[in-house]
Amino acid sequence: MKLTVIGCGYLGATHAACMAELGHEVLGMDSDMDKVAVLNSGKAPIHERDLDDLIAKHTASGKLSFTASYAEAAAFGDLHFIGVGTPQQPGENAYDLTHLFSAVRQLAPRIKNPAVVAVKSTVPVGTAPRVRDLLHEFAPAGDAIEVAWNPEFLRESFAVEDTLRPDRLVFGFESGHSWAEAVLRQCFEKIIESGTPTIVTDWATAELAKASANAFLATKISFINAIAEVCEASGADVGQLADILGHDARIGRRGMRPGLGFGGGCLPKDIRGFMARAGELGADQALTILREVDAINNRRRERMVDLARQQLDGNLAGKRITIWGAAFKPNTDDIRDSPALAVAQKLHELGATVTVTDPQALDNARKTHPELDYVNDPIAAVQDADLLLHLTEWPQFSHVDPARLAARTATPRVIDGRGTLNQITWREAGWTVRALGRP
Ligand code: UGA
Repeated sequence: MKLTVIGCGYLGATHAACMAELGHEVLGMDSDMDKVAVLNSGKAPIHERDLDDLIAKHTASGKLSFTASYAEAAAFGDLHFIGVGTPQQPGENAYDLTHLFSAVRQLAPRIKNPAVVAVKSTVPVGTAPRVRDLLHEFAPAGDAIEVAWNPEFLRESFAVEDTLRPDRLVFGFESGHSWAEAVLRQCFEKIIESGTPTIVTDWATAELAKASANAFLATKISFINAIAEVCEASGADVGQLADILGHDARIGRRGMRPGLGFGGGCLPKDIRGFMARAGELGADQALTILREVDAINNRRRERMVDLARQQLDGNLAGKRITIWGAAFKPNTDDIRDSPALAVAQKLHELGATVTVTDPQALDNARKTHPELDYVNDPIAAVQDADLLLHLTEWPQFSHVDPARLAARTATPRVIDGRGTLNQITWREAGWTVRALGRP
């Protein structure tokens, strides 16, 4: 098949490369010419496992190319995926759909033949009919264009794996649109044939599937972090507790790691956008739980700042604090709503001198947080520090020898915000160890 992917960020670039891997001819389209140039040179614009290899392989094979032209994209194929970003509106909970509607408005007048437009972006429920109306109004092909809703559930740092081997595929259609279903089934044929559950539904259910999945994942994390607060008040150990709970298959252990909480470009804005939309629909009471989920999550960051203050005898001014981690989670260079950087920023505002290290995200962090100091090597970063905070659980950090590290500072004190440092070894090496949710 010949297909296009409009928007080549995390979602779109990964989707384009994976569709080429499935054997399709793919044209990725992004209005950012620099990004298009990077992609056409065979490189990924982001740090994402296996993505560089896939883009290099398929730009070389001729199956994958990129353009900044809507006209080229519209003329290229008859299946157009849209994967542009839908961020949070500044100062509001609601989604900013500017990029989505702008992409549809620019694509529409250029689509001359019958086509399927399959939207992958995360949106408030009720967006699909608005996309259909724009396409039918502005496209020469008019109502020969069918809109499909195809939410994406990939995790950053597993994006390629999740796209090629998803837990499920969801296709949402306006009733009676079997042509679009046949086109999507053909596109994902190899994935469907490998036994992936494929759910065909209406637009609203498909839109809500994505919002509810992220709301549930965020709730699971905040649930265990709420329990962590009780652990801190009672002397219990949330790490062991999560393990005990995880043995119950109904609860499970995945996605329930206690710690500094969730960040990134998705979960925080998606729970807020979901609440805002429920409010517009008159169903706001249904989602008040998410307000609490958000509040618990933010309290973890405040708690980390309080613990740091406690460890430094109540005074942060002039203290040297080293932070391990800038990315919102390991194996990515994404720093959007990073809990680690939020804590770093707060400590800096309170007068501490903050040095941050991260294996991949320092270039991005420097751009948004120029007031912080940056050091590449996690061991050198600890030189003369009054306190070390472990805030993003890169495997590299767990492998550092705490004895070697202790020699770098006169006051070996560490707070583990992710629960992955071996407390026994660190204590034996002379460190004073505190951890969120643990005695
Ligand atoms: C999340 C969802 O997991 C994906 O299913 C979804 O497709 C994606 O958002 C999206 O909407 O695009 P992602 O943001 O890449 O994916 O990352 P997660 O692995 O879910 O982690 C999110 C945050 O929660 C990170 O800050 C992570 O450190 C934190 N987290 C995750 C925990 O604190 N505990 C956990 O047990 C799991």
